[in-house]
Amino acid sequence: MRVGFIGDVVGRPGREMIKRFLPRIKEAEGLDFVVANYENASHGFGLTQKNAKELLGAGIDAMTGGNHTWDKKEIAGLLESMPLLRPANYPDEVPGRGVGIYEIAGEKLAVVNLMGHYGMPMTDNPFRKARAIVEGLKAEGVQTTLVDFHAEATSEKRALFLMLKSDVSAVLGTHTHVGTDDLQIVEGCCYVTDVGLTGCRDNVIGMDAKVPIERFMTGLPGRFDVPKKCKKILQIVVMEFIEGRCVAAKKVRCYESGEIVVTQAWVE
Ligand code: FE2
Repeated sequence: MRVGFIGDVVGRPGREMIKRFLPRIKEAEGLDFVVANYENASHGFGLTQKNAKELLGAGIDAMTGGNHTWDKKEIAGLLESMPLLRPANYPDEVPGRGVGIYEIAGEKLAVVNLMGHYGMPMTDNPFRKARAIVEGLKAEGVQTTLVDFHAEATSEKRALFLMLKSDVSAVLGTHTHVGTDDLQIVEGCCYVTDVGLTGCRDNVIGMDAKVPIERFMTGLPGRFDVPKKCKKILQIVVMEFIEGRCVAAKKVRCYESGEIVVTQAWVE
């Protein structure tokens, strides 16, 4: 089974890069399934129904969320009607679910969405929640499990990966929007601390740099905005899984110029 994972899709520039590059990446890489994180997809904050349809129509099969899942009110209904997840460590009474199980050519793929604690809303312990979810998936006979850990701190992401590496197939970090260069496969589990954003690459986390600079200079609040013009990037991790273990992984970066840069995972 070959699966692609795209990190935080930020606004229209991110959606445009997906529409332009994803179909050809899917074909070239023979991808059976593609997951992306939607939480910044609609002008940087949350996801609208229109943009959800746009992304699912562009070749994305399922999407994960995070702390910005709730920024658009319509998300509650979309979580019920579309293949969208929200972090599993929100309390049970919160709309939606944090685990999706998808059939791919007779095999099951579980996608688990979790959110870290550092700098994030107060939720249930993601480490304890992960343990319980993994036990449940094993009991169901699911072999291949991909975790999107939406977290700020590199230490939290690394710790969750080391705790889960023999139980899941991949732990992929999202939320910081800055891709890290530590893509690796350890004992059959793929890991990267952050996949990095898909959207504007020349500002501040995909947002117009003016507002964050002003905020840091003055301490006053200001609303982030997605730039109308920028230099763009699409970043996707491509993985191959056999019997629940990751046997190959690479990071593919597409630039708006058409240039494509591929980096192989290190394996141990
Ligand atoms: Fe986030």
